[in-house]
Parts: sequence; structure tokens; C-alpha cells
Amino acid sequence: MNAPGPPIATERLPPDAVPRAAALLAAGALVAFPTETVYGLGADARNARAVASVFEAKGRPHFNPLICHFPEAEAAFAEVLPDARARRLAAAFWPGPLTLVLPRRPESRIDLLAGAGLDTLAVRVPAHPLALALLRAVALPVAAPSANRSGAVSPTSAAHVLEGLSGRVAAVLDGGDCPVGVESTVLDLTGAGPVLLRPGGVPVEALEAAIGPVGRALPLAAAEASRTLRSPGLLLSHYAPGLPVRLAAGSVGPDEALLAFGAPLPGAGATWNLSESGDLAEAAARLFAGLRWLDAEGTRLGLRGIAAMPVPERGLGLAINDRLARAAAPRG
Ligand code: TXA
Ligand code: MG
Repeated sequence: MNAPGPPIATERLPPDAVPRAAALLAAGALVAFPTETVYGLGADARNARAVASVFEAKGRPHFNPLICHFPEAEAAFAEVLPDARARRLAAAFWPGPLTLVLPRRPESRIDLLAGAGLDTLAVRVPAHPLALALLRAVALPVAAPSANRSGAVSPTSAAHVLEGLSGRVAAVLDGGDCPVGVESTVLDLTGAGPVLLRPGGVPVEALEAAIGPVGRALPLAAAEASRTLRSPGLLLSHYAPGLPVRLAAGSVGPDEALLAFGAPLPGAGATWNLSESGDLAEAAARLFAGLRWLDAEGTRLGLRGIAAMPVPERGLGLAINDRLARAAAPRG
């Protein structure tokens, strides 16, 4: 990977600066923008230099394939080959937090590095109004991973983006907090049966209601052991705060920070409640901000770690538990 260049002054753009953001993207610069899930680090997906600079800005050690973003399904399906399942899912869930992995069209001009050299591409139509306005204005496929340094917690506000990427990207378009808060669900449609590669903003139960049974990629522990990852995003340690994370906490000490769900356990040194009422959508939206806050506050107070209360394994709980398992995973 190239040595980082001199730092650039990152522009913080207000929501009405979509034309400026689009002009920067079209010129090959990197622009972070809000989606309904998390902020994305956008680049013109057809521009090899722009795509390469995404990996450089994130400090991504591997060329993980990126998701390409479009303002509507037909633009996405100009780059990949949809089957009947893909069309049905697009009609039901786009715009929205669903990413489809499909065979790349041979004539697609999306840069090969964006797809990490695979013959498949991940595509999605995000639901955030600013993301859609930007994608319409730029009228190019926009490759966008989450706008964080590699391995760090995904950003759900412009301030989070600037914490990690200030001086490394041309601009961040500020759209406030992301309403969903966990990344899109990634579904592989390149095989005979659909396979869930990453639980996310669309619950797998909703996908199954639309297209029938969905296979699961290997559970985290097995995936780690087998090293036959279908999606590089399945890499284990990820979303890692500085403090160690302990899962399924049934009690908590005064020397720990608590990530609570429902009625909080008593006695923690600091507490962030994902959802007092046990609402999974609220919990997903507050997850990454909570991990960041507990990490900063726990470190400030000299606490030894973050204890996470159990979250039910249904609906958005799958995505929340997946991200928590990665946050707790041994660091590579
Ligand atoms: O919500 C989201 O999806 C956000 C926003 C910005 O859209 N983006 C995001 O991108 O989370 P990223 O790069 O952090 O995660 C992309 C995931 C990774 O797990 C990657 O391995 C997988 O999608 N992926 C991308 N292309 C793929 C492909 N061709 N085959 C299999 N997996 C793929
Ligand atoms: Mg990411």
C-alpha cells in the first residue's frame, strides 16, 4: 500500500451541499456520506485511483470487495445480472438496508479492485434521502465501505467519521445520525440457494418471507477456524473498541462499563442503555455510538472493560449480536 500523502483539510458539508459532494466524487475525491445504516466512504466505482484511495484512507490491509451504491434498482442491474429472486427482493426492500451479491456483467465498467477481482459484485440502493440525492446527482456507481479506519467501530454520525478519517478524505456530507445504525444485510445470490453473508438492517426473517429459506454462512467461530471465508467481511475481529468486550454479562462490576439492554444490571462504573424498553430497532441505532461512548468514558474512568448484556437472537438482534461478537473477538 502507498505511504499516506500529506493530510488534506476535510470539508464538513451541510445537507444542502449535495452538488459540491457530487462534484468532488466525480473528480475522483473521497466523500463520506450518510446512509440509513452507517456513513459510507464514497468513491467513483469506475475510477481505479479513487477506489484504491478508499483502501488507503481506511488502512485496509486486504482488498475486501466494496459495496456499490445506486439511486435505483435498474442502475444496479446494469452492472450485475439479477435473477427472479433479486428482482423480487429489490422490489420489496430497495431503497433499504439490503445488499445483494450477484454475478458481475461482463460489460460492467466498475473497477476490478472495487470487486476485489471477484466475478461477483455487491450492490445496494440505500434509503437515506441525502444518499439518494447524492447518487442521483453524481450519476455514477459509488463504491462505499463504512467510513471508519479498518477494524474500528462503524460511524453513525459525521463526528464519528471525522474522528477516524479527518485529513484523509476530501469531505463528509453531514446528515445527522443514521437511523438504522447497523450495516446492510448482505445476501449472496450467486449460488443455487441464497446465503446470508452478514446479518444487518433487514432481518433475515423478512427475506425468508419474500423468497423462502435462506442459508447461513458459517457461524463466526467455525468461520475463523475454517479459513474458507465466503465473504472477507466475515473476518472475525472487527468493530473493536480499545477496551475488551465481555459478552452475555449476567452481572457487572464497578470496574466495568456496561452496555445494557432492557433493565440495566446494577453496579457498573458507567452505563449506556441500548434500549430501556428492549426495542431491537432502537438498540441497533444506538449500538455503535454506545460502543464509542463506553470506550471513551471507560478509558477516562480507568475501567477494565465493557460488559454487554444479552440481546435476543431474532430480527435486528442477529446483526447486533454479530457486531458484538466481533467487538469481543480476539484481536488479530
Ligand atoms: O450498510 C452498509 O452496507 C454500509 C453502507 C455504507 O452502505 N457499507 C458497508 O460496507 O458496510 P463494508 O465495506 O464495510 O462491508 C461490505 C461487506 C463486507 O462484508 C464484504 O466482504 C461484503 O460486503 N462484500 C462486498 N462485495 C462482496 C462480494 N462480491 N462477495 C461477497 N461479499 C462481498
Ligand atoms: Mg465496515
